[in-house]
Amino acid sequence: MSGIGDKFQQETKYEPSRIPRHKLLWDAKPALYKEYPESQKIELSSFDPNQPMSLDRTLKQRKSVRDFRQQPISKEQLSYLLWASTGIQRVEDGHEFRTAPSAGALYPIETYVIVNDVIDLEEGVYHYSIKAHQLEQLKPGQFRQEIAAAALGQGMCATAAVVFVWPGVFERCKWKYGQRAYRYIYLDAGHIAENLALASVSLNLGSCEVGALYDNQVNAILGIDGIEESVLCMAAVGIPS
Ligand SMILES: Cc1cc2nc3c(=O)[nH]c(=O)nc-3n(C[C@H](O)[C@H](O)[C@H](O)COP(=O)(O)O)c2cc1C
Repeated sequence: MSGIGDKFQQETKYEPSRIPRHKLLWDAKPALYKEYPESQKIELSSFDPNQPMSLDRTLKQRKSVRDFRQQPISKEQLSYLLWASTGIQRVEDGHEFRTAPSAGALYPIETYVIVNDVIDLEEGVYHYSIKAHQLEQLKPGQFRQEIAAAALGQGMCATAAVVFVWPGVFERCKWKYGQRAYRYIYLDAGHIAENLALASVSLNLGSCEVGALYDNQVNAILGIDGIEESVLCMAAVGIPS
């Protein structure tokens, strides 16, 4: 059986005879950071786990966790998970680089969180401002049932303390790589998701990636258009039961 995916895989192959060499339009380079200037900003403290878990132990313990205790995580833990998954980690020659690699350092993935149960943080939908290491509040209120329904009814999204949601802003990467960008965008999301999975283990939290979702239901919860920016995957995080 062949379909659009097979066609995509074939038509976006690089061959020695087929490497696109178009000129980059620097004036049209999309912004690296999405901002919600009207939103209420929530400061996130920097947080260092006081007894860091070794990478070897973290790798041995990582597994998908789908059952969570009905207990909140702390705002500091959330702050660390946001930074560890996709935060700014160094500046070189004026360029901000992040904890996860990204093709061409174009960083097409945005991070939103559905907060179900975090100490000192109102329930609701937030956008992570990577540059400022702040949360931007988009919608206050309870979204646990809505996000679980949008994940094909997977209850872990309702019982998790927080659900990370990762959409791609496609033009950021297409600007340079054209249609091949989609390969890189999916890979970028995977790197961020694995960073989150390992960081969760290192804080004795559990997480499970979620790829089974109704794209436009999730997009509607975030308030994004599903065309320029559309969800790729999510992860539920909480205290393992
Ligand atoms: C891209 C991707 C999407 C996934 N989607 C789901 C999902 O929607 N629901 C779920 O329960 N697990 C999901 N998982 C978790 C896998 O089922 C899990 O990683 C796999 O069974 C291996 O188990 P482990 O993670 O415990 O090692 C997903 C994992 C990945 C990488």
